[in-house]
Amino acid sequence: MNGTPARPDAALIAALEAAHYHPLWDRYKAITPMAPSAKDAPMHWRWRDFAPFTERAAREVPIEDVERRAIIMVNPAFGGATQTTANLLGAFTILNPGDRAVPHRHTASAIRFATRAEGAFTIVNGRRCAMREGDLVLTPPMCWHGHINLGQERTAWFDAANMPLVCGLDASFFEPGSRSEEAFWEVDEGDERLWAGAGMVAPAAVAAQAAAASGAHSPKYHYPGEVTRALLAAMPAAADGAKTLRYTNPVTGGAVMPSLDCYAQRLTRGAATQARRATWNAICLVVAGSGRSTVGDKTFNWEQHDVFTIPHWTWASHVAADADADLFIVTDRSVFELLGLVREEVR
Ligand SMILES: [Fe+2]
Repeated sequence: MNGTPARPDAALIAALEAAHYHPLWDRYKAITPMAPSAKDAPMHWRWRDFAPFTERAAREVPIEDVERRAIIMVNPAFGGATQTTANLLGAFTILNPGDRAVPHRHTASAIRFATRAEGAFTIVNGRRCAMREGDLVLTPPMCWHGHINLGQERTAWFDAANMPLVCGLDASFFEPGSRSEEAFWEVDEGDERLWAGAGMVAPAAVAAQAAAASGAHSPKYHYPGEVTRALLAAMPAAADGAKTLRYTNPVTGGAVMPSLDCYAQRLTRGAATQARRATWNAICLVVAGSGRSTVGDKTFNWEQHDVFTIPHWTWASHVAADADADLFIVTDRSVFELLGLVREEVR
């Protein structure tokens, strides 16, 4: 006996458990936590540490033998699962000149953000999308996609996808395509041209998109970096010096995909952004410049093409060091929006 009196319902709880019931009164704190609590600590991957692995992968891994020559950033908090932060993966894909990454499609959502990818192209549903510096290319759910490097240099780009979310829901479907089907690669921009301009759409194209099963995601797949940079230069900064753009679906004005939501942010040199925390998760890619972020109890000093995470409900603030700096931020915010679970605090 330890001196603690047995609770009067102990026998009942044991009987309920044996019969595959749980009493709510015994465990409501576990069922309804007071606030979110991210499993993962914020994490930072430096490009300069990572670059040698891209060299090795390019030399040691023949593209013919693999689905994708991609290397995924993994937070050990997920117990060995291939996961970067809750719901999201971040990676870099490396292609040698002439390499083709075999076409396929899946229910997970993905994006590519071109860092050093001049000469590479991503083909999405029969549209050839260039990957010039700063270009964002969407590969929405069940859209056929493949990649090819037609240039003379090795290419690398940043990828993000939501396999952890989709697999957590056990809703992953995957269809392989054919590596040898030449017609897949022999396409031009195609209907991507219909979505090139802001403020003008073809009503017939909008109707076709609405009628298609794919109506939930953006009909525009390619967001040129040139346009992003011009908009960031033109727009006014918020009080904390940050300029934030959301990549949107031109038909709805909302997120580009129901379960991936992307942002571009320019930080003013020396001005720390107001600390904020939110219910969604974010992976940040440093597009240009250098600076420092405080995320939870970690401080990351970052440079171009570094990647770091902002796990959900974790305070984060950023400051650019020597000049203005640009971040690309991929999130699962739109999932929380659809579920009515968006909550954000600033301090
Ligand atoms: Fe894919």
